[in-house]
Amino acid sequence: MSSWSKNSWRDKSIKQSPTYPDLEKLKEVENELKKYPPLVFAGEVRTLKKELAQVTNGKAFLLQGGDCAESFDDFGAVNIRDMFKVLLQMAIIMTYAGSFPVVKIGRLGGQFAKPRSSDFEEIDGVKLPSYRGDIINDIAFTQKARTPEPKRMLKAYNQSAATMNLLRAFARGGLADLREVHKWNLGFVKNSALGERYENLAERITETLAFMEACGINSSNTPMIHETELYTSHEALLLNYEEALTREDSLTGGWYDCSAHFLWIGDRTRGVNDAHVEFLSGVGNPVGIKAGPSTDIDELLKIVDRLNPQNEAGRLNIIVRMGHDKIEKYFPQILRAVKKEGKEILWSIDPMHGNTIKASNNFKTRAFDSILSEVNRFFQIHESEGTYAGGVHLEMTGQNVTECVGGAQAITEDGLSYRYETRCDPRLNADQALELAFLIADNLKKRKNF
Ligand code: PEP
Ligand code: CO
Repeated sequence: MSSWSKNSWRDKSIKQSPTYPDLEKLKEVENELKKYPPLVFAGEVRTLKKELAQVTNGKAFLLQGGDCAESFDDFGAVNIRDMFKVLLQMAIIMTYAGSFPVVKIGRLGGQFAKPRSSDFEEIDGVKLPSYRGDIINDIAFTQKARTPEPKRMLKAYNQSAATMNLLRAFARGGLADLREVHKWNLGFVKNSALGERYENLAERITETLAFMEACGINSSNTPMIHETELYTSHEALLLNYEEALTREDSLTGGWYDCSAHFLWIGDRTRGVNDAHVEFLSGVGNPVGIKAGPSTDIDELLKIVDRLNPQNEAGRLNIIVRMGHDKIEKYFPQILRAVKKEGKEILWSIDPMHGNTIKASNNFKTRAFDSILSEVNRFFQIHESEGTYAGGVHLEMTGQNVTECVGGAQAITEDGLSYRYETRCDPRLNADQALELAFLIADNLKKRKNF
């Protein structure tokens, strides 16, 4: 640990790292980024860490959700606003059911770099480097498009800055006001069964607010009614970008990765001696680590010690992503081993990445039922182990896309082509996201007295 510096990851072996052909240009871009202002302030990061400590201690719940991969093409106010609205809706559904705070973290404002299962993609005998996210290369299938281009980091930074600017405006400027709870329902959801269920809840909240107002509790003396906080997060995969945005906090002298409030390490890059764990071991942000079926318990315990040597609550989130048919086989033993060591861990469930399948028409999809089932099992396993199911981690959108099969709209394999817009993995649409939120709410209600 004592030898950590923001570039000490460069001496470690690294997975999923792009091969830039022009190293000089890469250096220039990194130097340029180092001069840019941080996207988040260390004080905010510390506040989030405190809130996540509350989650770890069973006093709140974590909702983390957003794009699989943000893209340069889909960048715009409508997408950001609708994602924000669905996150608010989900959070209010869960808050109401659980009677405790829901900490909201978006997968946005920097979620660009993607790990890939193969370095190359072959189409009709032509083999090119895989698409690795808009911060690295372009999705078009040409040699030029697929060649990693450092300048994309500058564009990703600018898009992230603009995204955060709008999110901050939404959070403080009135859109998140609880009195607007009816307006968060998106047009296409309104007439669905879920939309109605949500309207009923909104009605009860409106009545409660009227009652509170009559008792003298209103938005001028209680800012929580008028504004909220949406934190940002992404996978800390492209370490050249993360290092350039890592800054020493002038108040505490600690190092923070100021590209987002929360960063996580993916399932493919969590080697305990590798670059990604090295890098995140030295920054003060709360961090996440994905744990899939290949997780080795002894190695996981070592990673936990490397990332959280002081065993602070709020620092470390293990994001379980086993798959609905594997979670019972692998997760209980992991949970027991970590519990036995007395580790302070926020456990959350990512029911997306272990449930990806290929539809018969070749679309990459996820069955809504498998997603629900993995979430339910996650809650049940915690219940039987006497531990706390702290949160969910989702790939979702505020748009009416057709990427995951099933759900109340009963999207079929044939229906996938209607609006299949993701850059990478299939996301829940707004309707499916609400349906899932109600299901989680049921789980939260059941265990009210944790
Ligand atoms: C992701 O969260 O987009 C991702 C790639 O997940 P994982 O590392 O769990 O596969
Ligand atoms: Co994904």
